[in-house]
Amino acid sequence: MVAVTGAAGFIGGWVVEGLLARGYRVRACVRDVDDDARVGFLKAMGGYASGRLTLHAADLDNAGCFDDIFSGCDGVAHVSHVSTYDDPEYVQRTCDHIIHSVEASGTVRRVVVTSSVAAVISEADINELVRRPVCDEDRYPDESNPKRTPERGQGYSMGKVIAQRAFSDAAARSGRWDAITVCPADNVGPILSAHQRSGGPWQHLIERMLQGRCEIFQGTGPYRPWMTVDVRDDAACHIGLLESDAVANGERYIAWSTDTRTYEDVCATIDRVLPELHHEPGPMVDATPERLKAREAEFRSIWAGCILRNDRIRAVVPITFRPLDDSIRDCVESLLTVAEIEPSRRPA
Ligand SMILES: NC(=O)c1ccc[n+]([C@@H]2O[C@H](COP(=O)([O-])OP(=O)(O)OC[C@H]3O[C@@H](n4cnc5c(N)ncnc54)[C@H](OP(=O)(O)O)[C@@H]3O)[C@@H](O)[C@H]2O)c1
Repeated sequence: MVAVTGAAGFIGGWVVEGLLARGYRVRACVRDVDDDARVGFLKAMGGYASGRLTLHAADLDNAGCFDDIFSGCDGVAHVSHVSTYDDPEYVQRTCDHIIHSVEASGTVRRVVVTSSVAAVISEADINELVRRPVCDEDRYPDESNPKRTPERGQGYSMGKVIAQRAFSDAAARSGRWDAITVCPADNVGPILSAHQRSGGPWQHLIERMLQGRCEIFQGTGPYRPWMTVDVRDDAACHIGLLESDAVANGERYIAWSTDTRTYEDVCATIDRVLPELHHEPGPMVDATPERLKAREAEFRSIWAGCILRNDRIRAVVPITFRPLDDSIRDCVESLLTVAEIEPSRRPA
């Protein structure tokens, strides 16, 4: 039996789906079990009809609310976001809530904690990537940089590192369970419910491309290419890490295919893999501030010099990462069918 936090989310939904497919009993933790716009897709799963999947209301902000849910579970996939990453004490508190419920359960043996590749690379100084271009599990953002503060946009990356350490340290103290961290990259792939189109941000950016609103995205760093993982492969990594006997407390694993692509290439891929759609992307807008735009060639060459590694996760989890073309195709088709997005089309 496995509990999944953030089960109504993009990644959490696929973790639930994957666990059910592998025969598990699953306790899906959501904030509102009656909000069918968010949880209806879980209720439509076969496992819910049979009772193998159950839904449970829990908000990370409330101490003790996972006690009953985790009791009897062997594992927890802690996938959910928190309400804010910009307050380190709050982030620690949400970890403590989960940890307390894990300890109280007496049954949970492993927690897989969803971190992010932002806990691997999130440089307040891009030149750090020239000095340390190898992106593997040993790499952390430069934690000594004085610009590494929530005010400078580093809260998410900092919060993910806090969570990783909180769980690993608590598990080491306990000795009765372990914590394995997974650091997913940019998730692309099919959504399972219409509300997931605006999570992401990657599927949301594809939604905007489909609608002919192409604006080069700067949220993760100027001219940073997409560093991707298919959401189904990400879920498989979560499940593989829950099951693996080749991992140890405190370890972390990056989940990415190592396939990277520029924003412009992702946009062009839609027409290449789905020519029948006659996608009209509209004008490509680059809203990068002028002072950063002046350094475009430098940024692109620094990102191109990064060396992405995934050999560690492939050594402990049986996974073959899908090609990004498949993820983009399936994401687009799910946006059309599940979210009923009306694409911008050129005349046939
Ligand atoms: N998407 C990516 O590309 C990506 C990349 C790297 C890492 N990640 C990490 O993967 C995890 C899942 O991301 P996602 O893209 O699947 O996000 P998502 O679709 O927004 O789902 C996140 C879920 O977190 C839940 N949540 C938020 N605040 C909560 C709280 N205070 N208490 C309980 N639940 C709360 C929400 O639950 P309700 O629906 O029940 O309200 C939501 O369904 C996150 O930890 C994220 O940092 C994502």
